[in-house]
Amino acid sequence: MFHRGDRGRQDKAGRVNRVSVRKVAMFKDKSILLGVSGGIAAYKAAELVRLLVKAGATVRVVMTANAAQFVTPLTFQALSSNPVGLDLFSLESESQIGHIHQARLADLVILAPATANLVAKMAAGIADDYLTTILLATTAPVLVCPAMNVKMWEHPATQRNVETLAGLGYAICSPASGSLACREEGTGRLADLADITEAAARLITPPGLSGKRVLVSAGPTWEPLDPVRFLSNPSSGKMGYALARVAARRSARVHLVSGPCSLEAPPGVELTSVTTALEMQAAIRALAPQMDAIVMAAAVSDYRPSETAPQKRKKGDASEVLRLEANPDILAELGKSKPPAQVLAGFAAETENLVENAREKLVAKNLDFIVANDLMKNGSGFGTDTNEVKILERDGKITALPRLTKEEVAAEVWDRVQRLFSDGSR
Ligand code: CTP
Repeated sequence: MFHRGDRGRQDKAGRVNRVSVRKVAMFKDKSILLGVSGGIAAYKAAELVRLLVKAGATVRVVMTANAAQFVTPLTFQALSSNPVGLDLFSLESESQIGHIHQARLADLVILAPATANLVAKMAAGIADDYLTTILLATTAPVLVCPAMNVKMWEHPATQRNVETLAGLGYAICSPASGSLACREEGTGRLADLADITEAAARLITPPGLSGKRVLVSAGPTWEPLDPVRFLSNPSSGKMGYALARVAARRSARVHLVSGPCSLEAPPGVELTSVTTALEMQAAIRALAPQMDAIVMAAAVSDYRPSETAPQKRKKGDASEVLRLEANPDILAELGKSKPPAQVLAGFAAETENLVENAREKLVAKNLDFIVANDLMKNGSGFGTDTNEVKILERDGKITALPRLTKEEVAAEVWDRVQRLFSDGSR
C-alpha cells in the first residue's frame, strides 16, 4: 500500500523504503482552452479533446462560427464536459465578460486546427470574434497547429504570418505532409495528435533541465551470427525513449543513442541509431565528454559471436558450439572517465538478489545512482509499459517505487539528476 506524503522518508542505512509518487498524468490540474477554427481537420479536434481529458486536463473548447459548420458544439461539449464558447456577444457569457474570464482561466491555449484565416488574423492582432478576442487577452502560452490546403500553406502570406506568430512568441506545431482532404498531396495536414500533445506538454512543463545536455541510451543491441541471425534480448526501448521524451519536455538538449527498435524518437531529440554493442560504444564515446548527464537504459548484449559468417550459416551437426567474446562494458568505461561535474546513472536488470546485485553495479561502475529492475515481476522489465523499480543512490539510500508508467519512472530519474545538479555537489 502506498500513501501520498511518504515521499522523502528514506533510510540512510540502506533499508528499503517504500514511497508514493505523484502520478504524472501529463496535464493533471491544467486548464486547457482549445480553439477550433473552420477547417476539415476540426473533426480531429474532437479526438484531441478526449486525449487531453484522459491525460488529466480540464478542457474548454471555443469554436469559430465556421468551425461549427464542420463539427457541432454538442460534440465538444460532451467530450469536454464543459460548455462550448461560440459567440462574443452571448448574454450569458458576457455577463462575466466571458472572453476575459476564459483568457485568464487557461494555463495553455491550443489552436487546432488553426486555419490560414485564423493565423492571418492573429498575425495582424485582429479580434473580431470570441476566439480571437480571447487570444489577444490571454497571457498563457499558445500552441498554434495550422491545417489547410498545401497551396494555402505554401502561400508567402501564410508563411509570413506563421513567422510573425513565431516572432511574437507563439509555439507552432507545423502541419504534416501527406494526402489532404482536397485530394492534393503535400504539407497541410494537421500534425499528428501525439505530436500536438507532446508539444503542449513541453509548453507547460517547468524547464528544469534547461541548458543541460543529456545522453540516453535505449533498446537492445544485435550481435550478428550471420547476415540474417543475431544474439539479442527482448528490450523494446520503451524505458529509454520515455527518458528521452521526459528530458526533452524539461527543456534538456537530448541525444538518444538507440539500438534497433520500432519506436520513433521524440520530436527535437537527436537520434543516433546503432545495431551492435561496439557501434553503441563508439557513438557514446564520441558524445560523452560534452554531456552534463548520461543515463544508460540500453540492454547491451554482454557477448558477441567471435565470428560473423559472411553468408547464412547452414544446418550442420545436431549440436553446435558457438564461440562468444565479451563486449565492452560501456557504462563501466563511462564511470572510469567520468568528469567530476557529470551525472552518471544506469539500470540493473536482475532476476534475483535485486538490491545486492544492483548495489555492486552502482559501485563497480562508479554511478551516482542505479535503477534496479526486477525482470521477474509482472508489469516490470522488457516490453511492458510500466516498471516497478528500486532506486539506489551512492549514500546508501534505497527508494522503492510502486508500479509506475515508464514515463513516471523517467520523471523520477530526472528529478534525481536535477537534485544532483542543484545540491552543489557538481
Ligand atoms: N551496460 C553497458 N555495457 C554492457 C552491459 C551493460 O553499458 N556491456 C550497462 C547497461 O546499460 C545498464 C548497466 O550497465 O545501465 C547494467 O546492465 P545489466 O545488464 O543489468 O548488467 P551487466 O553489467 O551486464 O551485468 P550482468 O549481465 O552480469 O547482470
